[in-house]
This record gives sequence, C-alpha cells and structure tokens, in this order.
Amino acid sequence: MTHTAVDVIRAKRDGHRLTDAQIDWVVDAYTNGVVADEQMSALAMAIFLNGMDRSETARWTRAMVDSGEKLTLDVGRPTVDKHSTGGVGDKITLPLAPLVATCGAAVPQLSGRGLGHTGGTLDKLESIPGWRAQLSVDEVVAQLRSVGAVICAATSGLAPADKKLYALRDVTSTVESIPLIASSIMSKKIAEGAEALVLDVKVGSGAFMKSLDQARALAEALVSIGVDHGLRISALLTDMSVPLGRAVGNAVEVAESVEVLQGNGPTDVVDLTVALAEEMLSRAGISASPRDVLASGEAYETWARMIRAQGGDPDAPLPTARHHHTVTAPADGYLTTLDAYAVGVAAWRLGAGRARKEDPVQPGAGILCLAKPGDRVTKDQPLLELHTDTPDAIPAALESLTNGGYEIGDTPPPTTNLLLDTIRG
Ligand code: URA
Repeated sequence: MTHTAVDVIRAKRDGHRLTDAQIDWVVDAYTNGVVADEQMSALAMAIFLNGMDRSETARWTRAMVDSGEKLTLDVGRPTVDKHSTGGVGDKITLPLAPLVATCGAAVPQLSGRGLGHTGGTLDKLESIPGWRAQLSVDEVVAQLRSVGAVICAATSGLAPADKKLYALRDVTSTVESIPLIASSIMSKKIAEGAEALVLDVKVGSGAFMKSLDQARALAEALVSIGVDHGLRISALLTDMSVPLGRAVGNAVEVAESVEVLQGNGPTDVVDLTVALAEEMLSRAGISASPRDVLASGEAYETWARMIRAQGGDPDAPLPTARHHHTVTAPADGYLTTLDAYAVGVAAWRLGAGRARKEDPVQPGAGILCLAKPGDRVTKDQPLLELHTDTPDAIPAALESLTNGGYEIGDTPPPTTNLLLDTIRG
C-alpha cells in the first residue's frame, strides 16, 4: 500500500491509531527527506494533542531505532546503562559508570551536551585536560573490554530520525509529549545495544517533569518501551527540587565526583549513586555491594583508567573561574529552600551552560552550595559561591537566586526522600 504524509497526519488529527505500516513509512520517509519538516511538524502536533498508545509508541521507537545503526556490544561482561532525564548538579553518571564497572558490569554511557538549565555530562568531562568525547564504535568496544566503562558522545549514526525530529519538536512546541519523549530517549538507548537499563526519572522544579504523577507516567512509558524491546529495565523516580550535592557546573562537578569516588563526598550524591548502582547490578544479574566498593576508593582506580583511555589526565588540576561572588545569609535561622531550577538557571547564566547548541561553555563556571536545606545558618554566613569568567553575568545570576531561589525560616523544613518510587519492568 502506498502512503502519503497527508493521510498519516489526517489519521492522527482525527484521533485514530496509526498502523504499523504508517509508522514505519512516515519515520523512514521523514529521515530520508521525503516527508517535509512542515508535514512532520503537523504530525508531531497531532501526536502531542491526541497521543499514541503503548503499541504505537513501541512501533514508533522501533522505527526510529531502525533509521540508523545498532551497536552490538559483545564485550565479555553483562552490559548495563543508565539514563537520567536531567537535573541540576546531576553528576551521578561520573562516579556511577566506574563504580558499576568495578563491580563487574560493562557500562556504555553514550551521553549528550547540556542545553538550558540542566548540565551535560560531556561538558563536565571536557573540563578535564586532554579528555576526548568523540570515540569510534571500535574504540567504545575496546574500552568496554579493557576498562569496563566508557562515557562518550553518541555517534551520529544512532537513531538519526530522532535527531531530526527532536530538533523539529524543539521549535514547534511539541517536546512535552510523553510518547514523543519516551520514544526519543528509548530509541537512542536501544540502538546503543546494552542488555539492561536503569532510568533516573527526575521530579521537581529542576526537572523536566514537575509533578510526581507526570514523572510516573513518563517512567511507565519508558519502562513499557524497554520491556517491549526485550530490555531488563527499571526506573527510579528521584527528587530534583534541590540541587544534587554541593557543586553545580562543569569542573566543580568533576571535583565533587572525584571526592565521591575516593570514598567521601556529599551524602545525597553517594546515596543516589549507590541506589542506581544496586539497581543496575541487579538488572545485570551481578551480586556485589557498591556502597562498600565506593567507600573503599577502588572505583577511583577505574575512573582514572577510564579518563586516561580517552586522553585525559586524571591528576591534572581542573580549571577554575577568574571571578567569585559570595551570597550570604540575610538573617539567622534555617535554610528552608534551595530551589533547583533557580540554582540551575543561575549557573547557566554564569556560563556553565549554553543557550544555543553551538555555544561554548566555561569549564570553571558554576555555583557551590555551601549550605543545604535543613542547615542552621547565621546572619552573613556564606550560602552560595558564584564562579564565572564573565563578571557581567553575576547580576543576572543573582536575580535568579534572589527571586525565591533560597529562603531562611525559623523552623527547619520537613525532611524529604531522595528516592520517591521504583518501577520495574
Ligand atoms: N531527551 C531526549 O532525548 N528526548 C526528548 O524528547 C526529551 C529529552
């Protein structure tokens, strides 16, 4: 049967289920330039408004995987990956990949650069002198065999349909659709070829999904797609209303990750790293105690080998910013609020993130959170330290922070859980 873009758009516009043949055709035809951007924009909006059911979403994902290459990771160990939906201070991949590798799995972590207020894993690692993000598929496989962990840029051959569609959704206000987000994330993860996957779905002001219900719906859609494609998969729902750890930026987050790998570091970063590692190892069928391995400092050795394998010097001093500005407590009391979104936007304005995908980032820019919610503070005590090479950016960063970004109260805030729920496929 021959298809036309107009028929497919009309079917979804009128609330019908797309057939497998329609989905395969439209994704392939769009990737190859037969369906025009304006037609795919209309279809994306129809999907945004009318949704896709579980089997349509699974088929859409399959079609995006089939638009490009699929890696075969025959590396002699169980392969398991992790994906975070993105948060502020979310450096967890950095300690997690070498930790899980030290425990016996192979971790292929194909990552992206940051856009907007959440940082990108590659931007953080690129602050390490000499470190290289771009690897060939042969280099990825060789490093998984020798070190057990690789964090690098996704090759352009993985799910090219998603690359094109994601850029289009960005400019047509069709990003926030659960079937489109879930198929976009999962097409890249399935193409990457790991046997198991653990998702960290963030909830709260600093996350894509602001409410637990939205995050749960996304997590369920992601897990369903994984199950339908034969992956061993789980999703952890975790709090992102407060920045993770004390460091938000690039080099500052690498430094904090190294502290964690050496058996120290902030409790929330350690706890989340361990929770994700336990889930990844269980999905990979490996019995180990990641908390003990992390505390022993053994995972640091894997980190150093992983960084060296990609040309980086793990012992080199990290870049620092030329200008610092300290925000102090206006009164005695308890820090009751430290809003992840406000801190993320402030770090981004200081130069840690980019507004357009071609912009450079400043490796030394970012924020150190010297107090966290629940801490008792005294008037004039330093709360936040702003780092930047461009001091003109400081007033805009302060504006984000002083409009409700942090608050001091007379009583401590209620304690919150970092791990909110787990969904297993
Ligand atoms: N991340 C992705 O990879 N795709 C989306 O659609 C949203 C976030």
